[in-house]
Amino acid sequence: MTSTSTFLEGTDISINRLTIRRWLERHVHVRRRPMMDVVLPCTLNQHAAGAVFMGNHPHPYETSTIEKTLAHRREIDSLIPEGSDFTPIMTLYLTDHISPDEVVRGFKEGVWRAAKLYMANQQGQGGTTGSQHGVRDLRGRYPVFAAMEKHQIPLLGHFEAVEEKVDEFDREIRSVNRDLKPLMKAFPGLPIVFEHITDGRAAEFVAEANHNIQATVTCHHLMHNRNVLFWEGLNPLKWAKPVFKKEPHRRKVRKYVTSGHKRFGAGTDSAPHDEVAKCRLCRCAAGIFTALSAVEFYAMVFDEDNALPHLEAFLSENFVGLYGMKPSEKKMTLVRQPRLLPLKVGDVWVEGGGTSLPWELLAA
Ligand code: NCD
Ligand code: ZN
Repeated sequence: MTSTSTFLEGTDISINRLTIRRWLERHVHVRRRPMMDVVLPCTLNQHAAGAVFMGNHPHPYETSTIEKTLAHRREIDSLIPEGSDFTPIMTLYLTDHISPDEVVRGFKEGVWRAAKLYMANQQGQGGTTGSQHGVRDLRGRYPVFAAMEKHQIPLLGHFEAVEEKVDEFDREIRSVNRDLKPLMKAFPGLPIVFEHITDGRAAEFVAEANHNIQATVTCHHLMHNRNVLFWEGLNPLKWAKPVFKKEPHRRKVRKYVTSGHKRFGAGTDSAPHDEVAKCRLCRCAAGIFTALSAVEFYAMVFDEDNALPHLEAFLSENFVGLYGMKPSEKKMTLVRQPRLLPLKVGDVWVEGGGTSLPWELLAA
């Protein structure tokens, strides 16, 4: 950090140490066992007060019904240590088939706290891992959205146009115009989270919309632009959806985040794949595994922008109520000391593996 001049008065911050509320991981993939055995502890070790779990497992295991979601919840619970107060937040994997009544029942019974929208095209192709069984007919789901609006069930949207002819780098903004805007118009009271936002135009739209809409932002999209995909040879470890964008988009999203805009919150989209899936010659799996050191990555970004006073709200406060959470009363501490990351966790390559980060997260 170059200066302390922007520190807010009265905050418990010094240059080398930062104690803040435990955070909420608003978007994570932990897969199923046995991979879950090695990746879920990473999120727990990051002192998250809770996490929003995405259920895009290979068909037929996606969390598209109450029973499947409960089964996934049991898997997660079995790995949470006794006495932990970590809160798993389950999501419904929305399909063309589930009825509005079932969506509401799962919400009322506390099975899920939000519905995750993945879209597939008319050929049943999805734009990201495990999205083939997502929604093909968005208009056909309007009765579900009406019920969600009525019961204030948040819609967590992966907004990318999946059609083959759409330019890969414009998929997000195309979906904003084609899918999101009509949706917001039709359901002005529907709470929406725009997941892993990457396009500066989309971020501006979220920041200024007259609607209960927020966005999660990953650490990797704050750190990298699309050059990392190509630098020193095509790099499958940097292949994730949405694809990294041009530098001006990264900067614009990052500006909203580190300037403390309340509509943006941390959701890593940490998405582990084993080495075979990542290194396939064709159909390389999309996803970057950041769960091991996500808080340190975010801290590094805020620090670089001389914005550490805004880190706590982004990690631990902004729109956590949407998921039925309160900002945690428990604390965690970041210390400015090198943290060397391992190359791999189990069979999963680690984002930043082999490098040293400037911050390390400790318990309170
Ligand atoms: C995610 C995954 O692997 O499950 N992949 C990714 O590139 N982000 C799915 C998703 O969130 O798009
Ligand atoms: Zn995801």
